[in-house]
Amino acid sequence: ELTADGDAAGKPMSDRLYGIFYEDINYAADGGLYAELVRNRSFEFNSVDNRSFTGLTAWSKVERGATGTVTVAGTESLNDKNLNNLVLESSGAGVGVSNTGYNAGVVVREGAAYDFSVWARTTSPTGTPLTVTVESGSTVYGQAQVNVASDTWTKYTARITATGSTSTGRLVVMAGSAGTIRLDMVSLFPKDTYKGRKNGMRKDLAQSIAALKPQFLRFPGGCVTNVGNYAPFPDRRRIYRWKETVGPVEQRPTNFNFWGYNQTYGIGYFEYFQFAEDLGAEALPVVSVGVNGCNEDRPLAEDQLGPWVQDTLDLIEFANGGVNTEWGSVRAAMGHPQPFGLEYIGLGNEEIYPEFYRNYPHFARAIEAAYPDIKIITNSGQTSAGAIFDRGWEFAREQNADMVDEHYYNSPEWFLANNRRYDNYDRNGPKVFVGEYASRGNTFYNALSEASFITGLERNSDVVELASYAPLLANVDHVQWSPDLIWFDNDQLYGSTSYYVQKMFSENAGGSVLPSTYTPGPNGPPAPADIAGSVGLATWNTQAVYDDVKVTAADGTTLFADDFSAGAGAWSPQTGTWAVQDGAYAQSSGATDARSTAGSVDWSNYTLELTARKTGG
Ligand code: AHR
Repeated sequence: ELTADGDAAGKPMSDRLYGIFYEDINYAADGGLYAELVRNRSFEFNSVDNRSFTGLTAWSKVERGATGTVTVAGTESLNDKNLNNLVLESSGAGVGVSNTGYNAGVVVREGAAYDFSVWARTTSPTGTPLTVTVESGSTVYGQAQVNVASDTWTKYTARITATGSTSTGRLVVMAGSAGTIRLDMVSLFPKDTYKGRKNGMRKDLAQSIAALKPQFLRFPGGCVTNVGNYAPFPDRRRIYRWKETVGPVEQRPTNFNFWGYNQTYGIGYFEYFQFAEDLGAEALPVVSVGVNGCNEDRPLAEDQLGPWVQDTLDLIEFANGGVNTEWGSVRAAMGHPQPFGLEYIGLGNEEIYPEFYRNYPHFARAIEAAYPDIKIITNSGQTSAGAIFDRGWEFAREQNADMVDEHYYNSPEWFLANNRRYDNYDRNGPKVFVGEYASRGNTFYNALSEASFITGLERNSDVVELASYAPLLANVDHVQWSPDLIWFDNDQLYGSTSYYVQKMFSENAGGSVLPSTYTPGPNGPPAPADIAGSVGLATWNTQAVYDDVKVTAADGTTLFADDFSAGAGAWSPQTGTWAVQDGAYAQSSGATDARSTAGSVDWSNYTLELTARKTGG
């Protein structure tokens, strides 16, 4: 029986509890939310990014009545950030290229308008006509013509109105005369994007995101933001730097993506801020503090942090500065003179290396001095690899951070067992941002366990200010991470069961939490059983949830984890970094949290004594 006291004032709820975490993972941007229909439009795909890529990925030669060659060259570049271009040499009219787009092909819908554009130059003194068609099989679904007039890089545009619908199309560009022609930034963009934005978002995907009524947008990712090299372009594994992602799209370099593919930056920081605004959500960017989280330990030396700190300050100026400031004027030139009104910034993602403690203060102090109203978010808790970032909360308090970003990818049993996780969190310290969480699976049971967890977030939303499921998007043919919230191909999408849980809670977000009581009926779950004893790692029940775990090693050292489900990825003892401490473990509850850093523990050297309460499995 459930009873709620409707007359009580209740505890006020965070009005930003429900948001989204967008990461460029699973082809979420190119081939996903970014409405561009042409894959590898700038011929920058490279085997360094992914062994299966070449400059001609997604492209092939077409010969219709003449013969020729098609190559990718790094000479005569469009500009110093867009190095490669396509060189098409033909013996006469009728040589060209076709692009397969994403998934089954280029999608066009009857009657809809599509904007074709290309940067091109030709050696032919009389110019070269280009015929552009969208085809599937032998059917043409729309066409246009442009005339490349000179041997100077120039942008040509044409509108195509589709005469039929297909989701298996290809874009074909044919040269109408003999000679050498170079092409770059070959683009086909639906006119009808979300909110009609130029260089905008695919409408159906953006609408499905908007239907979640997100109150914030964390972007541009987790590991995408903080893993890579510190070298400048043309290094191909560069850490995400927001400045590379703004300005005209043809001047944005592409980059290797942590998830193993080429990232065009067609959606960049301007587009993310604008998308957040279009959604009615607060923008929440995450930047690197030069540490390389996500299990890649390659920190930037302290004396090299200067430009990175400055980049972060410049980002805030880009978002909020007046049109007469250096970076505010860049925003204005891109079409948004009004400030975006940035309030939050995340420093780092799942940072488990000690250099984080060294680097973070440089960024935090600079932001506090220049922009005292910006809320700074540090990070802690469990990473997706299962490690506990043990000093995170202690450090956050020392640093007077506004919020701590915690991540949980665990079994459904863990989510059920952790409904009360935040009941005892310190109300006087930093707030909690559950920046990434998902029960590992996309079944109804997973969604149900998340719903249970969310009731705990709501009950504690005086301390849990923000929460977001992760990842948000997955292209069904390019999956690096599962489960995900919204699945799509080039033409369609569907929400997972978890999507509908998020939507239900967000749509029905209340203003306050009323006191309530629940009395289990006769068919309620069995009482938890206490277990104790010596266990080998192999004897952990992979289905069980262990509550209040306390682990003591044979040498007398006390090793602690809190609640976890064995075998669910939440605990990887041989590889994780674990806290070793002398006192009792009090779950992140302010001053009583006595954890300390002890580096990596090789658990194979220990015989473990376990005291736990088994609540499932
Ligand atoms: O959401 C997928 C990944 O999980 C994120 O990139 C990272 O922050 C976490 O490890």
